This record gives sequence, C-alpha cells and structure tokens, in this order.
Amino acid sequence: MKVLVVYYSLYGHVLQLAESVVAGVKSVAGVDAVWRRVQEFADIEKEIPQHEHALAVWNRQKDIPVCTLDDLREADGIIFGTPTRFGNMSAQMKRLFDSGVKLWLEGALEGKPAGIFTSTATTHGGQETTPFTMMAPLLHLGMIIVGVPYSTTGMLHTEGRGGTPYGASTVAGSSNELQPPPADLAIAQALGRRVAEVAKKLRG
Ligand SMILES: Cc1cc2nc3c(=O)[nH]c(=O)nc-3n(C[C@H](O)[C@H](O)[C@H](O)COP(=O)(O)O)c2cc1C
Repeated sequence: MKVLVVYYSLYGHVLQLAESVVAGVKSVAGVDAVWRRVQEFADIEKEIPQHEHALAVWNRQKDIPVCTLDDLREADGIIFGTPTRFGNMSAQMKRLFDSGVKLWLEGALEGKPAGIFTSTATTHGGQETTPFTMMAPLLHLGMIIVGVPYSTTGMLHTEGRGGTPYGASTVAGSSNELQPPPADLAIAQALGRRVAEVAKKLRG
C-alpha cells in the first residue's frame, strides 16, 4: 500500500519536513512512500534563478515528480505540506485541490487518512490556522484527518518552534533564516508514521 507525501516549498523548510514525513511513512512495514511536489507557478519559476537561496532549494527538488490527480487517486493515505500564505495554504497547493473536482465527484478520496504539515515565518503567523483552514477541503473530500497527539515526543513545549496537534510544523524566521530543529523534524516523522499506520488499519 502507498502513502503519498505531497508538498510545496520555496525556501526549503517544508521540503525538510517532507523528508522526515517520508522517513516516518517508510518506517511502517508494508507501506511505501510516494513523494511528490506541487507544480510551481510559471511566473515564480521564472524568477527563482534571481534568488540564490530559492535557486539552491529549487535544484534540490526540481527532479521530484509533480503530483498528478492519479497520484492522489491511487494513494491509501495522503500527507499534505505547505508553507503558510497569510495563514492559509499556498496558492500552489490550493491549485492542486481545486483541480481535483473530478476526485470529489468520484468520491475518490473518501475514507482515506490525511495529515498536514506547514511552516510559518513567525511564531504566530499561521501555525494553527494553516492546518485548520486546510482541513475544510480535506473534509469536503471525505478524508479522515490525522493529527499529532500530545503523547508524541517533543509536543509538550513552550519554545519558539513548531509542533501543533493539528499537524507537524516549523518556524522559518522572518527572513527564512532558521532551520527546522530536530524536535520539529521528529514530530514530522511521527506524523508520517501515524498516517501510514492509520492507512494500514483502515485497509484491514
Ligand atoms: C505571500 C506570502 C505570504 C506569507 N504569509 C505569511 C504569514 O501569514 N505568516 C507567516 O508567518 N509567514 C508568512 N509567509 C512566510 C512563509 O510562510 C515562509 O517563507 C515559509 O514558511 C517558508 O517555507 P518554505 O521554506 O518551505 O518555503 C508568507 C510568505 C509569502 C511569500
């Protein structure tokens, strides 16, 4: 069985979380991780070479296949990662959702578990609203939301970093200068493992 990890990342934080989520999925026996990126907008792709950091991130991820509707259809569980944009998912990720009306009509994602991970520049810039607002379309599609329980190592803290019960997360810094600390990556890995375990149980 397959769990899809599909993400968008411009400056690499969500990409790093995605790597940990994939590792978590792979840690569950009998579950394969399918790793996909969301299609970049043509105008942004054109600008990337002018930004040294964005270009380095682009070069790391450009060979990861772009997610198709068949990838979504064929997955037994899906984990979605996006940086926040004004407290919501990125438009690139939203385009994937909006292009999936056929899947909605078919009920193709109904009953499948879904997890969420995100990155925000600031501590209060959307750590909770981003996963929360993403839950609306996931529920419309009939998916079963899988969060991160507080029994997960690293969740019970008051530090300036990520880790929400609504999804894995990290804080990138106002100039994207921070790196996800090990605790955030471990929570991302736990989310991947949890969605894979739930997918396995649901398949029986
Ligand atoms: C249009 C736009 C809107 C953004 N809105 C927010 C925001 O509301 N709150 C916040 O903390 N960061 C905001 N950011 C910063 C990004 O979330 C940050 O660059 C991202 O989390 C880094 O993830 P990445 O390295 O995977 O691209 C915004 C960035 C852009 C370009």
